[in-house]
Amino acid sequence: MKNIDLSKKIVVSGITPSSSKGLHLGNYLGAVRGHVEMQSKLKVANYFIADYHSLNMVHDPEQVRTNVSNTYMDYLAFGLEPEKENVNFYIESGIPEIAELNLILNNVVTMAELRRMHAYKDKFQEGVSEDSINHGLFNYPVLMAADIIIFNADIVPVGEDQVQHVEITRDIARAFNKRYGEILSVPEVLVKKEVARVVGIDGEKKMSKSLGNDIPVFAPEEEIKKQIFAIQTDPARIHPDDPGDPAKNPIFSYMKLMEYDEAKREDFEDRYKKGSVGDVEIKEEFFAFFMEFFKDARKRREGFEKDKKGIAELIEKNSQAVRPVAVETIKKVRRAVGID
Ligand code: TRP
Repeated sequence: MKNIDLSKKIVVSGITPSSSKGLHLGNYLGAVRGHVEMQSKLKVANYFIADYHSLNMVHDPEQVRTNVSNTYMDYLAFGLEPEKENVNFYIESGIPEIAELNLILNNVVTMAELRRMHAYKDKFQEGVSEDSINHGLFNYPVLMAADIIIFNADIVPVGEDQVQHVEITRDIARAFNKRYGEILSVPEVLVKKEVARVVGIDGEKKMSKSLGNDIPVFAPEEEIKKQIFAIQTDPARIHPDDPGDPAKNPIFSYMKLMEYDEAKREDFEDRYKKGSVGDVEIKEEFFAFFMEFFKDARKRREGFEKDKKGIAELIEKNSQAVRPVAVETIKKVRRAVGID
């Protein structure tokens, strides 16, 4: 998708609030930064917290509430600006038309199509019996299609793992249109390849909260420090004067992604190769840089924590702003299928 005029495009993208522990460096570099950079260039930027989606995994109601509110505040702190005219940041369940559209779309998708979806198939292959998989997970792609279609999205920016879900959304929209006429818009996927994978502090797996290999952004300073000092560096380096391989120290990849001063990074890398800099020195430097990099975001996040009422109002305002479009779509859909 080259040379697209973003100022004419409607973007929809959701965030599943599956953790209460706050976003980490991988979330920021892999997803949030892209949303933040893109928001002002678009005709409409609709971002939302996919709370309906989280129900297939999170079953404690208090946990659901905390996850939703924390994730919302984290995104705001990172620089999403729903005060902007073209930017909306709402909660999925605040738009009940999504659920109704889901219900209607169920009739244009087959079991076979849904069975092919990774999210479902993976569970299956983990040895979980098909009979015990909850239907929310099976239906997940249809709900996602409803999220996207309800706002006539042109573009859906997602990570690699969600591409299949956008493809089935296209199939669903087309199948609907074939049956009822050209009613729904068929969105394009935008894959965020280059930053899709931020390695964890183990230097191996993708950074993830559940693996414990993350660097949290909004946690207390000591916790961040602990994780940074636990970063696995080149195992061949036992003493600070042993030569090392910068590719085996994830700090250099973080520095690159975070646009740390290039000359300084190259100097560190050279010294790393020669064995004239210790891992501790690099970690100290990176820790200081990290705290400075996220200083404003951390400050904003603290402010939101003290202003839950303001946040609730913002959510309400955003739902009201987007809802008329959803109502319009559902009206068209109802008319098309004959239940108006
Ligand atoms: N399933 C997506 C994820 O886990 C989140 C999501 C839900 C989404 N609805 C969406 C993303 C609609 C894009 C569009 O990351």
